[in-house]
Amino acid sequence: MAAILPPVGDFLLATCQGGAEPALAARQQAVRPDLARGAWRRGVLTFRVPAGGAALTPNDRDGLVFARTVVHSCGQVTGNDVAQLVRSLHDLAGAYAWDDIHVWLREPRVEGDPAAIRTALVAGLDPDRRGLVPAVAAPTRLGALVLDCAIDGPDRWWVGWHVADTPAGTWPGGIYPHSLPAGKVSRAWLKLDEAIATFALALEPGKRAVELGAAPGGACQRLLEAGLMVTGIDPALVDDEVARHPNFTQWRMRARDVKLRQFRGFDWVVADMNIDPKSTLDAIERAVSAPGTPPRGIIATLKLPTWSRAAELPEWLARFTGWGYTTRARQLSTGGREICVVAERTAVRRPPPRATRPPGR
Ligand SMILES: C[S@@+](CC[C@H](N)C(=O)[O-])C[C@H]1O[C@@H](n2cnc3c(N)ncnc32)[C@H](O)[C@@H]1O
Repeated sequence: MAAILPPVGDFLLATCQGGAEPALAARQQAVRPDLARGAWRRGVLTFRVPAGGAALTPNDRDGLVFARTVVHSCGQVTGNDVAQLVRSLHDLAGAYAWDDIHVWLREPRVEGDPAAIRTALVAGLDPDRRGLVPAVAAPTRLGALVLDCAIDGPDRWWVGWHVADTPAGTWPGGIYPHSLPAGKVSRAWLKLDEAIATFALALEPGKRAVELGAAPGGACQRLLEAGLMVTGIDPALVDDEVARHPNFTQWRMRARDVKLRQFRGFDWVVADMNIDPKSTLDAIERAVSAPGTPPRGIIATLKLPTWSRAAELPEWLARFTGWGYTTRARQLSTGGREICVVAERTAVRRPPPRATRPPGR
């Protein structure tokens, strides 16, 4: 039976990386200019949906790019201690059949203990509903009805709710809930791991991937673990751990020095170069325009020299579209001031077979 959803209020609450607020606000203006700006705090923006305005669609939400999560806002609660805040939060949110409770810090410097607050919030649920929510945080299932609590400070919490209809929606605050495992050669391993989870990418073993900007090799390591045959392009040396893998080859050169025909036959192009986004796009364009079948997908990191460069995103995405790809973009929670673009080859639609004239007509 479908859960009874709480009422949708006038406000949406979106969270983002601290500092990304202007970029998120600019995306909101581009995607849903009818929304009015509400609160603006480091890591949190709220938007008012005008009376009679359309609900935020999944497409709108994806178009926000810098939003880690967007929830229906119930408002804020204040209090002198956790017990008082817990009571106020449940009064404000109402008694619904929550499947889970997500608690996170509005931004890392905020004071608060999300795990302890979650425990207090679970204990504060109506006894007949308490059993639905795992006592200890466990992975949230897709489709769960989630009560959200973003800790704004020791005496103030934001309250909201959402249905976890995407992988990132299952993570408190849309923040990837894993850290870099021991033995990985760079944080790029974790970024790619988050990208694979966020976009539900199917990297099939045996496929060929090339990475532009491969050193020291964390992303290549993740691709190798997925069973791919990997070529890393970088003038800098790749870590030994990766370099000696039997399915890894390094071309020690700049991407532009690779001959076009050498790019033939790759299924995936990954790019993570610390250069201007336009230069990254030029390098990717060469890789996808090699003779032969174009790669089925691209996973590109576009590093933003300044936040204001995010305004160029539509032009950048248009280049992928021009090469025949469908794009999705998101600022990953494990990345810095950058955007991850996943582009998958747009299916070529064959015209339907021409109807044959029935005999005798
Ligand atoms: C952020 S690091 C890449 C991290 C890497 N993806 C990993 O998984 O560890 C950026 C890399 O881009 C490389 N780079 C910059 N310009 C390049 C170019 N024109 N061609 C190839 N590599 C380039 C740099 O040498 C540097 O190693």
